[in-house]
Amino acid sequence: MNNFFHIAIDGPVAAGKGTVSRIIAERLNFLYIDTGAMYRVAALLTIKNNLKFDNEDALVALLEKSEIKMNNPVGLEKDGRLTTVIVNDKDVSWKIRTEEVGRGASIVGQISEVRKILVKKQQEIAQSKNVVMEGRDITYKVLPDANLKIYLTGKDFVRANRRHMQLQSRGVDISFNQVYVDLVSRDKIDMERTTDPLKIVDDAWVIDTSDLSIEQVVNLIVFKVNVMQEALSAN
Ligand code: DC
Repeated sequence: MNNFFHIAIDGPVAAGKGTVSRIIAERLNFLYIDTGAMYRVAALLTIKNNLKFDNEDALVALLEKSEIKMNNPVGLEKDGRLTTVIVNDKDVSWKIRTEEVGRGASIVGQISEVRKILVKKQQEIAQSKNVVMEGRDITYKVLPDANLKIYLTGKDFVRANRRHMQLQSRGVDISFNQVYVDLVSRDKIDMERTTDPLKIVDDAWVIDTSDLSIEQVVNLIVFKVNVMQEALSAN
């Protein structure tokens, strides 16, 4: 293990991983890395280039020559986004947030060559920094030595309701039923795929956010990290 503090968070769709991770990162002055955004970029590239989702070779080639940059929103970028995502010099931060791209991300996430490329990028980013990284395989694949591993979850109905409200506040016209069906089907793909599926590792701290506010979840985690950091510095 290196000297940097790594927080790894996994969990299903709309468990609150993004919002919680962003606030924790700000409070602790860590870098926030949204790995789902990278799979969403892979899906967006597929759609924009009119590729079929099973055309693995073309997607891998495209991904390898694409430059993906992710950073904290600054200035005018602070428009409610959690992270700024630039692909080949184009800001795609909002384009990757549609339900269509989310579904596509889950599909391209099944391709092991795509995962290999993205996992390598994620590990490189975390190498020399304190990070909060969230996704589906962070606790055991991307950062297996993370200081703190968390599995953030919540009841299907509560998560679907949160996602529905989020989409509505952005002016997206979609029924609750559609959001619920999409969420359940995406979780199923993510948990059942052969390469690096979403799962709960033995040493993960499982937090069910169904009855907790964002603030409560953040406070729980920040408190734990402070205690762990004090113990580390006393050694
Ligand atoms: O976290 P999100 O909903 O933005 O992620 C979109 C999809 O990307 C998710 O359904 C599965 C895939 N994904 C993945 O396979 N591995 C990750 N580490 C992160 C996301």
